Amino acid sequence: QAIKRADYAAPAYWIRSVELTFDLDPARTIVASRMRVERNASGNGGALRLHGEDIEPLRVLANGQSVSFRVEGRELVIDNPPEGDFTLEIRNTCAPEKNTHLSGLYTSGGGFFTQCEAEGFRRITYFLDRPDVMAVYTVTLRANKARYPVLLSNGNLVEQGELDNGRHYAKWHDPFPKPSYLFALVAADLVAREQHVRTRSGKDHLLQVWVRRGDLDKTEHAMNSLIASVVWDEARFRLPLDLERFMIVAVGDFNMGAMENKGLNIFNTKYVLANAATATDSDFADIESVVGHEYFHNWTGNRITCRDWFQLSLKEGLTVFRDQEFSMDMAGSASARAVKRILDVRTLRERQFPEDAGTMAHPVRPDEYVAIDNFYTATVYEKGAEVVRMMQTLVGREGFAKGMALYFERHDGRAVTCDDFAQSIADANPGSELARTLPHFKRWYGRAGTPHLTARGRYDAPTRTYTLALEQHTPATPGQAEKLPFVIPVAMGLLTRDGRPMALRLEDEPADKAAEERVLVLDEARAFYTFVDVDSEPVPSLLRHFSAPVRLHDGLSDDELLVLLAHDPDPFNRWEAGQRTALHRLLAAVRDGQPLQLDAAFVEAMRGVLRHETLDPAFKDLTLTPPTETYVAEQLDHVDPQRIHAAREAMVLQLARDLRADWEWAWETHQVGGAYSPDAVQAGRRALANPALQMLCLDATARGDVLWQGKAYQRFKDASNMTDRQGALWALLASHSEMADPALQRFHDQFRDDALVIDKWFILQAAAPEKDGRVFARAKALLKHPDFTLANPNRARSLIRTLCGENPAAFHRTDAAGYVFWAERVIELDAINPQLASRVARALDRWATLAEPYRSAAREAIARVAARAELSDDVREVVTRALES
Ligand code: ARG
Ligand code: ZN
Repeated sequence: QAIKRADYAAPAYWIRSVELTFDLDPARTIVASRMRVERNASGNGGALRLHGEDIEPLRVLANGQSVSFRVEGRELVIDNPPEGDFTLEIRNTCAPEKNTHLSGLYTSGGGFFTQCEAEGFRRITYFLDRPDVMAVYTVTLRANKARYPVLLSNGNLVEQGELDNGRHYAKWHDPFPKPSYLFALVAADLVAREQHVRTRSGKDHLLQVWVRRGDLDKTEHAMNSLIASVVWDEARFRLPLDLERFMIVAVGDFNMGAMENKGLNIFNTKYVLANAATATDSDFADIESVVGHEYFHNWTGNRITCRDWFQLSLKEGLTVFRDQEFSMDMAGSASARAVKRILDVRTLRERQFPEDAGTMAHPVRPDEYVAIDNFYTATVYEKGAEVVRMMQTLVGREGFAKGMALYFERHDGRAVTCDDFAQSIADANPGSELARTLPHFKRWYGRAGTPHLTARGRYDAPTRTYTLALEQHTPATPGQAEKLPFVIPVAMGLLTRDGRPMALRLEDEPADKAAEERVLVLDEARAFYTFVDVDSEPVPSLLRHFSAPVRLHDGLSDDELLVLLAHDPDPFNRWEAGQRTALHRLLAAVRDGQPLQLDAAFVEAMRGVLRHETLDPAFKDLTLTPPTETYVAEQLDHVDPQRIHAAREAMVLQLARDLRADWEWAWETHQVGGAYSPDAVQAGRRALANPALQMLCLDATARGDVLWQGKAYQRFKDASNMTDRQGALWALLASHSEMADPALQRFHDQFRDDALVIDKWFILQAAAPEKDGRVFARAKALLKHPDFTLANPNRARSLIRTLCGENPAAFHRTDAAGYVFWAERVIELDAINPQLASRVARALDRWATLAEPYRSAAREAIARVAARAELSDDVREVVTRALES
């Protein structure tokens, strides 16, 4: 049942163009498709097999004549198609309002929307629904005009007009051949914010952001982000907008974040709608990055697409890399860039590292899948982006831009593979480290698992040399026992013990090669690097800006880490040094089960960061926030989530107590006046002020003082923006204040009509720090709240994914109730929406490293789900793989 990469074969037929006509009706939509079909000259013809799922055929004509066909499982088979090229006409029906999978054509809020990636088009009509079949689309939509005044599809509007019975129509033509997964249509009662932009060539383009009536005041930021994306891609990569019109449409029911359909991006409302009152600073940042991501897909994904779904990272890894670079460039200052990099690495290590070590581990380019939707993962996206980033590191920023240019020169308009991409970057940079190591470098695409990089330095005073030994090892992953060495770029520097950067020169290098930072390229299991003219024993700063997705073991002592925390010119490693000193203490407490007690050196170092004169406030917040429970768990072979929770809570509480005066100072000095703006400067101040408030509340609760709770409640009530309102509410929740409940009630009353804010209301309650099982009990009770529904993915995720995936201490209970909750939700969801169910199912990926009694109970819950006869492929693949480990 698994589909294997090695089995790829070109299709026996091509579809070169398709005309689609939709008679839109929620209960029964009629789809008429007219395709130009060509036999693949290099194939051997035979039966034409079209994909189709949950749709009913009405009629099939070949060259205008009826032709015999049969439906075999999820295929429509024409055994004897005409010789040569021919026209195939198919009429079929589908039922959008019954389509709870939200894949294909479905209804949401009274309108019609589509989601075709990866395999949704076959739920609309019969087709060769695979990305290497690229066709030119002409689409006619017919629908009731009063209910569906806006009719959109890809490309350009070529005709529109009235029909009888209160109906109207619109005809769209997309000049670019595209795979079916990029098809889209929308028919709904929407309004648009519009803007014209001119690209360098002087061409005028129309940008539109379509939303429901009443949401127009929340579209300014999305539009600004879109304009910035157009400008950025042209400036950084010389990639202009190639369409007369570029549309974004927001929809409230959506499985993923957003979708890059050619010229008609469809977005989850979460990544479009924002204003100061309803969205937080991080919502604003997420919108900028997702708008950028989908826009950048127009070149990396649409102009050049994937030959098959195993190549998914060709477009996703590359486009995530591009959106990360975009956000960094938009952030402006060096410190704001560093903050973004830290956030991205945190996401990678908290989501992708566990995936790479768990039951669903797979390479950036997977070798097999049962349900492709299960492979829209942190590995394909975020690790894939790191692989692209390493290429940029190996060829330099300009070299990378040259490589991109060659990639488009060679492959524009085609469906290609990850090999084609890597080859282009290498070929454009002959003599680079990438060109030199290319076949080995590409192991990053083919091999799963996170490499361990061990570093040991030895200083020799008589010869004034410092020798660094680097060694790599990658643990086995399911199906891949032996791992050959990866090519690992290690950006590094050496600091004196009092924190000054040293000039780095390797033996045998001319003196003028000395630099304060350089990139060592480890491409074997082990290598030695000897630096000369080293006057004193250095502190090594390795893997700067996280130059490779590996786990570094450099054996640095606490004292050495504190040197880096105070002085490293690389902000990433500076942050990392702080995290590691915290991690050491958390792990020690978890291992010996003793109550955590912080030493003065650590507390003083944290005070030094908090009070620092020049550090960015957002950076301070990241450094003062201890590693999450999930990240701590990842360092252990036997995980007791309750112990980890207790240790981390104790650490936070002590930091709250010992730095009370400093938190007060931070709160008072980081208030923001004037009009709200989500820019990095304002957001950075809020990013420190709000956690300061939380620390003050936490400390106050512990001392039985309610002063700060009162202040937090006041802030909650009076806040002029959602960041501060939510920050204050969170401070009350996290400090287990008695004012949390009235605040939650008030929050709900105030925002009851705003779905995205009500999602936050669920998230906050499901994410709150667990205490005596109260958070879990509340989450269970919330399942019965009138605002809760499994049918809306955002709402379902807000409660269920937050609890099971992001709140380990509430989820992993000694009485196994969390796992029972998980199994029940997975089963319920699977009947409605398999993609969503399977995401929730992933919450137990790492069950095998749990300590008892969690481990057995988790396994039992997984077995219970796996024992069901009627599971989707999506969930079945996840639970089967979980049990195999
Ligand atoms: N290509 C979309 C993106 O921008 C994701 C769509 C994934 N959809 C799915 N059903 N797997 O990343
Ligand atoms: Zn994408």
